Amino acid sequence: MIEVKNIKKTFNDKTVIQDVSAVMKAGQCNLIIGTSGSGKTVLMKCMVGLFEPDSGDVLYSGHNFTTMNVEEKTEIRKEIGMLFQGSALFDSQTVEENVMFPLSMFTKDSYKKKLDRVNQVLHRVNIVDANKKFPSELSGGMKKRVALARAIVLNPKYLFCDEPNSGLDPQTALLIDKLIQEITVEYNITTVVNTHDMNSVMETGNYILYMYQGNKEWEGTNREIIFSKNQRLNDFIFASEFLRDAKDMRMLEESGKISNERNMDALLDKDAATLVPPPGE
Ligand SMILES: Nc1ncnc2c1ncn2[C@@H]1O[C@H](COP(=O)(O)OP(=O)(O)OP(=O)(O)O)[C@@H](O)[C@H]1O
Ligand SMILES: [Mg+2]
Repeated sequence: MIEVKNIKKTFNDKTVIQDVSAVMKAGQCNLIIGTSGSGKTVLMKCMVGLFEPDSGDVLYSGHNFTTMNVEEKTEIRKEIGMLFQGSALFDSQTVEENVMFPLSMFTKDSYKKKLDRVNQVLHRVNIVDANKKFPSELSGGMKKRVALARAIVLNPKYLFCDEPNSGLDPQTALLIDKLIQEITVEYNITTVVNTHDMNSVMETGNYILYMYQGNKEWEGTNREIIFSKNQRLNDFIFASEFLRDAKDMRMLEESGKISNERNMDALLDKDAATLVPPPGE
C-alpha cells in the first residue's frame, strides 16, 4: 500500500501539486487521470522520490519515505519498478542489456543468474527471440513490453507506469493494460498508472484519482465514474456528445426509470434527428 499525504510541489513559485492525498492499495491498478499538464507526472515523480515535494509525506507500507535517510530510500527504491512516459529504453543497448540493467545496478548476481531472470520476464511479457535486438528495431507495443519487463525484473512491490499506452493503437493499448493488470494481481503489486486513455480507465480502474490543475478533484472507482455528478470529471471523461448521451442512458437505465428498449428508441430518434437529409429533400 502507498499513502500520499498532503503533497505540495511548486516550481519557481508556480504551484503544480496542491495538497494531494490518496491511498493506493496492493493487488490493484491505481490510476491517476487528468488532462495534459494537470500534474500526473510530477505527482508520480514526487511519489518515487525523483522530485522532492515542498511538503507532505509518501508512505510505503506504512514507512515514511520522505523522512528516510539515503540508505533507507535506496532499500525502498529496490522495491520500485518504473515504466517511464515514452518507455525510456537505452537506445545503444540491446533488449537483453536494457532489461538486465536494474539487476546489474542493484544485485551482485552472476551473469548466468541475471540472464535467466531476464529471459523469465521477457517471456512473461511475450517478447521472444528479440534479446539481441535494439530498441530502434522494435514496434511501439514491443518497446512498452520490454520497458515493462525492465520495470518488473527486480520483482517490485510497487510499480509505476507513466502513460503506458501513449502512441499505441487501441487494441495494443488494451493488451498492455491487461498485462499490467495481470502482473499486478499475480504478484500482489501496488501499481500506479498515469493515463488519459479512457479504455484503461474503464477496464482497470479499481481506484481512480482525477487531477485538475494540480488538485485532487475527484476519486473513486470506474463504476462510480458513470454516476459521478462532478462536472469537471464528466467534461474530461465524457468529452464527446455521444459519450455524454451514453452516460445519461446508463444512469437512467440503472435508476430503472426507462427500459432498455425505450433507451434504444430514444437514441435512434436522436440519431435520426441529427442526420443530414440527402440532397433534394
Ligand atoms: N521540471 C519542471 N520544472 C518546471 N515546471 C515543471 C517541471 N515539470 C513539470 N512542470 C510543470 O508542471 C505542470 C504539470 O506537469 P506534468 O508533467 O505533471 O503534467 P501531466 O499531467 O503529466 O501532463 P501529460 O499528460 O502531458 O503528461 C505543467 O504545468 C508543467 O509545465
Ligand atoms: Mg505526464
